[in-house]
Amino acid sequence: MLSGRRVVLGVSGGVAAYKSAYLARRLLEAGAEVRVVMTPAAQRFIGAQTFASLTGSHPLTDLFEDPSVSPHTELARWAELVIVAPATAATIARLAHGIADNALAATLLATRAPVVLAPAMHTEMWEHPATRRNISLIEADGHRIIGPFSGELAGGDVGIGRVAEPEEIVEFAKTVLHRPLEGLTVLVTAGGTREALDPVRYLGNRSSGKMGHAIAAAAAQRGAHVELVTTSSLPAPPGANVHRVESAQEMLEAVEKIHPDIAVFAAAVADFRPAQAAQDKLSRSDGPPTLVLEPTPDILASVVARGDDIFVVGFAAETGGVERAIEKAKRKGVDLMVYNDVTAPGSGFGTDTNQVTLIEPDGTVDRWPQLSKAEVASRLMEIVANRLGR
Ligand code: C5P
Repeated sequence: MLSGRRVVLGVSGGVAAYKSAYLARRLLEAGAEVRVVMTPAAQRFIGAQTFASLTGSHPLTDLFEDPSVSPHTELARWAELVIVAPATAATIARLAHGIADNALAATLLATRAPVVLAPAMHTEMWEHPATRRNISLIEADGHRIIGPFSGELAGGDVGIGRVAEPEEIVEFAKTVLHRPLEGLTVLVTAGGTREALDPVRYLGNRSSGKMGHAIAAAAAQRGAHVELVTTSSLPAPPGANVHRVESAQEMLEAVEKIHPDIAVFAAAVADFRPAQAAQDKLSRSDGPPTLVLEPTPDILASVVARGDDIFVVGFAAETGGVERAIEKAKRKGVDLMVYNDVTAPGSGFGTDTNQVTLIEPDGTVDRWPQLSKAEVASRLMEIVANRLGR
């Protein structure tokens, strides 16, 4: 995975900088080409000559003394992956706010390559609200974080803040470069639909959209072009093209314009909607209204009916056993069905975890343990890629 890949190693100023020499070594052993960029503070902890000797080229340490006209953009374009290890609180803050005031920070701002950061700092700094905010910002921008872990820190302190080990960073880097869905379009529906009763009120459900958004993120991380049709106000996953909708009809209309290779229907779509939404807000003084409902369009069925070669994944949120979902998997013409019992603890609507069972069209089931929704999404995308021979 790393063989022949061009990796920029960014080193910022913490005592863990000495470990970056080992990291450079491990990356070279894995077959990567490695170039190094250092902050001024990093050079207080480890010499540029150490990296020059290991990698065969001089690290970029200063934007103005380098012979190249624009050394940071040259390095940024060369990179297929940037790893920042250690990533100090200051380097993280610079990236979060787009401040490019040293060679590493400028390279980070100039690159379009995926960026992995391995934070290292004292526990107090890691837990400071400013660092928490900055980490959220850089994650929302699609940058990937490994660690920090608990362990011994500088000065003999113990706590969370220890940088990931070189071997852990190398393994993580491999997963970031693993892009089996490159060149494919993935459609994901997410969230619960809202069906208008009147201009103010709606019939809805408890779906948060977390599972669908996690799937969109997992597909984008694997190189897919992602079209996410969602009712949720959760932030757009990095790299996904987001269409915000409310009702089943709006969701259908958005989906009709998309021509995917893979379609994952994680949305909880209302089965029925008010046949007629009131023009004006219903008033208590008019007494309780009689609701007349009509069926909504089946969005998944409309995509299956296109007859195109689309790999279709359905979701079945049920409140009972798996039997109904198995029957649905057979009936709906999906390639895979994901079943979850939404009444089980740690599963279903609003939680960050999910316990799902994968159902094949022939009824074969594979029960997964309770996992984070991000992990369910990752595993699901790996299986889909695998089925497509990727
Ligand atoms: O509602 P039901 O459990 O039958 O949903 C099964 C699958 O069909 C889900 O993946 C859901 O997103 C999808 N669906 C849909 N349009 C509907 C109803 C369900 O796309 N109107």
